[in-house]
Amino acid sequence: LANGVALTPPMGWNSWNHFQCNVDEHMVKSTADALVSTGLAAQGYRYVNIDDCWGEHKRDSNGNMRANSSTFPSGIKALSDYVHSKGLKLGIYSDAGFRTCSKKMPGSLHHEEQDARTFAEWGIDYLKYDNCYHDGSKPHIRYAKMSSALLKVGRPILYSICEWGQEDPAKWAGRYGNAWRTTGDINDTWASMISNADQNNIWGRYAGPGRWNDPDMLEVGNGGMSLEEYRSHFSIWSLMKVCLVSSFIIHCLVFHYMAPLLIGCDVRTASKGTLSILGNKEVIEVNQDPLGVQGRKIRSKAGLEIWAGPLSRKRMAVVLWNRSKSKAIISVRWREIGVSPETPLTVRNLWAHKFVTMDDFGLDVKFAPRVPLFRVLQKLEVFQIYVSHSILPQVMC
Ligand code: DGJ
Repeated sequence: LANGVALTPPMGWNSWNHFQCNVDEHMVKSTADALVSTGLAAQGYRYVNIDDCWGEHKRDSNGNMRANSSTFPSGIKALSDYVHSKGLKLGIYSDAGFRTCSKKMPGSLHHEEQDARTFAEWGIDYLKYDNCYHDGSKPHIRYAKMSSALLKVGRPILYSICEWGQEDPAKWAGRYGNAWRTTGDINDTWASMISNADQNNIWGRYAGPGRWNDPDMLEVGNGGMSLEEYRSHFSIWSLMKVCLVSSFIIHCLVFHYMAPLLIGCDVRTASKGTLSILGNKEVIEVNQDPLGVQGRKIRSKAGLEIWAGPLSRKRMAVVLWNRSKSKAIISVRWREIGVSPETPLTVRNLWAHKFVTMDDFGLDVKFAPRVPLFRVLQKLEVFQIYVSHSILPQVMC
């Protein structure tokens, strides 16, 4: 949607994956504080998004939505003033149905213009719009109504369409919104994460500046996966969504991926390991690359995968991902990623934060499970990556 927002994938935090319905204004304010104090805000995580359960059970006597008086006693306007004072933006949630998915509060169906005006008066910057308890009409009709309503309120509001399968959202949602879900709900497991990555991969050609495929929010830091697995999660989401093993930018080439990066953990108590993943500047830069082209799966065999996508300035992001149950070599021919083998190249490892030199090719590198080893056998023609998966109870494929 050409409403001037989300020219690169949205970045921020959302309450649902960690807190579900346990949301309140103190938690949201202290999360905003933590985004600033951890440095994540400065890296681009600007949206502070409250998901389901923020409202009263019923509308007021004028039919207006209102904040839950026990959990948000100061009201949403005061909260948005606070969040804005930190240099951040506030997001909220509603539903294209009669009730939200939790059933705890009303949805916006048939109240689209009234609710859009309320959100604008509160200073809302982002709306996630869910798809529960509706009247059975087609999503693209119900979602279009809220889109028109938001465009009338005189405030740029990023519109995130959370419709996960009644109709294929990628085929229509870009006309009405800035992002659309391509999957069901993620959960904090390797299986869920790679499943969402693969489903999202199908829709790459529909994405671009102002309109993004959304494989759902990040689970990094919630405890269900190892740090190595979360690194894969983050690398793939940054590229566009997939589990991966390692990532490189190859200068003078091109390819790419990118999904919204919405943190889903408790930022206030995040470990150093979690913060180092979420705060990996070089991986974030792949996600926020101005070219805005989604990366895709280039090749996959027996769980050994290559994902790649173009970046600006004649660069390409490449991810080698071992999803098999054992150590493996993944080799990439330059032509597979659109590069002539004669092209002079610079290669940078985005997790090690260093340029890879020719001397590095041919050297074995030990990796933890799902973090790749790599080896390039023929310089400038092939990447070869050895991935050791000695401990792999839940590896897929
Ligand atoms: C379903 C969505 O997919 C989730 O992300 C979350 O918003 C819940 N609904 C809230 O009820």
